[in-house]
Amino acid sequence: GHLIAGGGKRLRPMLTLAGAEVVGYQGTRHHKLAAAVEFIHTATLVHDDIIDDADLRRGKMAVHSRWGNDVTVLLGDYLYIKSMGLALTQDSLDVVRLLCDVTLRMIEGELYQLTKTGDVDISEDDHFEIIRRKTAYLFGGAAEIGCRLGTSDRDRQLALREYGFNLGIAFQLVDDALDLAGDPAELGKDGLLDLREGKLTWPLIVACERDPGLQTVLATIANDPALLDDPTRRQRLQRRLLKTGCIQATQARAKASADAARDALMSLPQTPARDALMTVVAVCVDRTR
Ligand code: IPE
Ligand code: IPE
Ligand code: MG
Ligand code: MG
Repeated sequence: GHLIAGGGKRLRPMLTLAGAEVVGYQGTRHHKLAAAVEFIHTATLVHDDIIDDADLRRGKMAVHSRWGNDVTVLLGDYLYIKSMGLALTQDSLDVVRLLCDVTLRMIEGELYQLTKTGDVDISEDDHFEIIRRKTAYLFGGAAEIGCRLGTSDRDRQLALREYGFNLGIAFQLVDDALDLAGDPAELGKDGLLDLREGKLTWPLIVACERDPGLQTVLATIANDPALLDDPTRRQRLQRRLLKTGCIQATQARAKASADAARDALMSLPQTPARDALMTVVAVCVDRTR
């Protein structure tokens, strides 16, 4: 419970821990694997904030804003390798292989997103390909490696993977909606950053479909993000975006993925760990930070 409550939402390691417990695992090896997962996530974020030119993270200065890019690149590299080293202490090459695999997909997602920078014609399919890679596979992997400690039953491992994967999609969709409509103070990161970086997230794609004139506006801003520094223009744009109902549409889409995540769990025994994993789904979809 404490892993998802309050300020210390440590979501991905929580999936590894509960993923092990839900299949009856009773040892302590899942602790190190959970730490490995969190290190991968942290490495991703410190690098991602350089890529996205984001100065705030968790309500504090992002690592690169405080210490510079040189230290931050090395810190991220260090955490990636540290993480694989931790996973290797658990003597399961399968788990290390899986972590490498999802981390590579994450990097591919970030790279693919870069190739789509400023592309206001990006398709929904392309966008979903990005969020599957950059977010969902790691969620799926986090849940699956926990499960692998407790059972060799492939169906159960795949159910946990399916759960995490769908949860990850929902999580990223909500993240994208919060970038548009959330409270930056609560989120601990700046708002409208995706647009500023020329990233056409799903709510923005939906807004353009519903208000076609927006496409030119968004293209202009993607080319000249400094336009968003004008508070009046910023507010006007935000209002116009929200008027399309794109946030509700994104929440509905996130709920559909959340339902798929819950369905995947139904094949597992009903235990406190499963209840916790169910709760995580609701927390992720309804979160405001
Ligand atoms: C998530 O994308 C980054 C990765 C999973 C690699 P975002 O760029 O939207 O994440 P935030 O908004 O900076 O946290
Ligand atoms: C941010 O993830 C990256 C995304 C996949 C959107 P979180 O929102 O879980 O980041 P922290 O770890 O809580 O800061
Ligand atoms: Mg980012
Ligand atoms: Mg984001």
